[in-house]
Amino acid sequence: MSIENKAAVKTIPLGASGLSVTPVGLGCWQFAGGVGFSKMFWKPVPQETATEIVRVSLEGGVNWFDTAEAYGRGASERALAGALAALKVAPGSVLVADKWLPFGRTARSIAKTFPARALALQPYPVDLHQVHMPASFSSVEKQMAAMADLLDEKKIKAVGVSNFSAAQMEAAHRALQKRGYGLASNQVRYHLLERGIEGNGVLSLARDLGVTIIAYSPLAQGLLTGRFHGDSEQLKKIGWARRRNSGLSREGLERSRPLIEELERTGAARGLGAAEIALAWLIDKNPGRVAVIPGATRPGHAALNVRALGVTLSAGEIAWIDELSARAG
Ligand SMILES: NC(=O)c1ccc[n+]([C@@H]2O[C@H](COP(=O)([O-])OP(=O)(O)OC[C@H]3O[C@@H](n4cnc5c(N)ncnc54)[C@H](OP(=O)(O)O)[C@@H]3O)[C@@H](O)[C@H]2O)c1
Repeated sequence: MSIENKAAVKTIPLGASGLSVTPVGLGCWQFAGGVGFSKMFWKPVPQETATEIVRVSLEGGVNWFDTAEAYGRGASERALAGALAALKVAPGSVLVADKWLPFGRTARSIAKTFPARALALQPYPVDLHQVHMPASFSSVEKQMAAMADLLDEKKIKAVGVSNFSAAQMEAAHRALQKRGYGLASNQVRYHLLERGIEGNGVLSLARDLGVTIIAYSPLAQGLLTGRFHGDSEQLKKIGWARRRNSGLSREGLERSRPLIEELERTGAARGLGAAEIALAWLIDKNPGRVAVIPGATRPGHAALNVRALGVTLSAGEIAWIDELSARAG
């Protein structure tokens, strides 16, 4: 099967790495196979469904995928590679972002665990390798030195971090600069109801350093799609960890209702839904600097989310949604 990329999608640079990504990528945590902590968030996704999710994403113009060692201890990486292979996607024609799990580990484990990452993803290379969170026993400098070794050895093409504060991000960037590189990205939680990075220095420093922000949970794990506002009984079907993590409570739904109604109105005028507008807002508010990685367990949702690539919001729409988002936060 060959993928027809229907959309002529503009890409944005991934830091100064020379790589570029579509402003919408696909988050692949959902492919963790119900293993480990992931099962508190997502039901297992059969391989055929994962393949279909990847297919509709590619058809919609997406050129990259975010996965991690932590997502089912390799299950997500294997499911992504399996999907790409089933779709006969040529290695190197899409970009794969992976993550090293730093918990309880020193920087030495970056090199030690890399072969397992490469094996799980084979024949697709790890293009961007990220430190999943600032939780290693080693200093940021040591972690970046280990990542720079992988760059030197041409095993990866770019280095990113995730959940790093402004100070940690700057330390990572400076450490990589000493080796002739730079930090490509910081992956952080950023959505209309979680805008901490706008005030804590991460967004402005990323702009100054030329580091791309990758917005995770951009739909607040479903809340911003309006589907729970339309049917709050759906709250009963999801696990407590996800409910707690994303403000998926009856109170949370009521507080955000005016925002969701505006997202729905703005979407309806274009034949779209709230989800696409919530994603487009993150992209258009931060042109060229923020990419979003919505996840999906159903192909239909992935097919909707990629439509955000075709949306351009006016300055007035961005400002009004901004205002309602601030009131809901
Ligand atoms: N670096 C980190 O620490 C970190 C943390 C979290 C996530 N991530 C990354 O970010 C990605 C996305 O984050 P996330 O999965 O937490 O949250 P998200 O993308 O905000 O939400 C994904 C969930 O929202 C629902 N959904 C998605 N599109 C929808 C649509 N159009 N209509 C209705 N419902 C829709 C689906 O729920 P159902 O499955 O219930 O249908 C889907 O599983 C992950 O896959 C992962 O790659 C990284």
